[in-house]
Amino acid sequence: MINYKIKEGLVMPNLFKPIAHKYKIEQNFNVSNKITLFEGDCLDLLAKMPNNCVNLVVTSPPYNIGKEYEKKSSVQNYFNWQKKVINECHRVLKDGGHMCWQVGNYVDNGEIIPLDLLLYPIFNELKMKMRNRIIWHFGHGLHASKRFSGRHETIMWFTKGDNYFFNLDPIRIPQKYPSKKYFKGDKKGELSCNPNGKNPSDVWDIPNVKNNHIEKTDHPCQFPVSLVEKFTIIYLTKVKQNKLRI
Ligand SMILES: C[S@@+](CC[C@H](N)C(=O)[O-])C[C@H]1O[C@@H](n2cnc3c(N)ncnc32)[C@H](O)[C@@H]1O
Repeated sequence: MINYKIKEGLVMPNLFKPIAHKYKIEQNFNVSNKITLFEGDCLDLLAKMPNNCVNLVVTSPPYNIGKEYEKKSSVQNYFNWQKKVINECHRVLKDGGHMCWQVGNYVDNGEIIPLDLLLYPIFNELKMKMRNRIIWHFGHGLHASKRFSGRHETIMWFTKGDNYFFNLDPIRIPQKYPSKKYFKGDKKGELSCNPNGKNPSDVWDIPNVKNNHIEKTDHPCQFPVSLVEKFTIIYLTKVKQNKLRI
């Protein structure tokens, strides 16, 4: 299993298992906690957090499409709420910290509003630097009849300032032709690609978590663990696990 159960209704990715078993899981935030698993409104949690204490924010907020966990509202109300959350995340983020905001489309009467387009100006106003707009491509979903079926969502990845850490090595993927060599010039005969693998690019093919997926829980709109893992793995190579605050 990729997820494991902490208690009834609460699952955690295996990625955190080594630290979750080592440290107590607290439910209320305190800077001295090793792990906090807060069940509640993110604004209440953020309000308890001091400035500049977080290395990495990864989130998939509601899309204002009327799922069980949200109340559909006007686009302006949704924007105002997201602005509050993004401003708070920015406040708690350290200089050089990363923010990854994964969103899909808001759909109104068959018209789509890509939420990354809607929310980008908020990050821009905060002078956050976009490093990638990642396309998360998946194979399954609803079949549209009056437009193309939606098979991607986006992850906007920003950093607070330019002094950020990024380590490609743990997430490299196999080269298509790993033994390809230069056939002329000074490097003739040497490998022409990195033997450790290539950059996985900004288009990620990751199955979405539908009914038969190994990670499937009761959650109506699950975020695949490997999506969040890519960001945490990049970061975990820098900070010791017990200093990670996500
Ligand atoms: C689009 S889903 C994304 C899937 C989610 N990342 C997952 O796999 O658990 C949005 C999630 O945001 C949560 N949510 C809704 N309103 C929230 C709020 N005010 N504060 C914190 N979380 C909220 C919902 O319960 C839901 O789990």
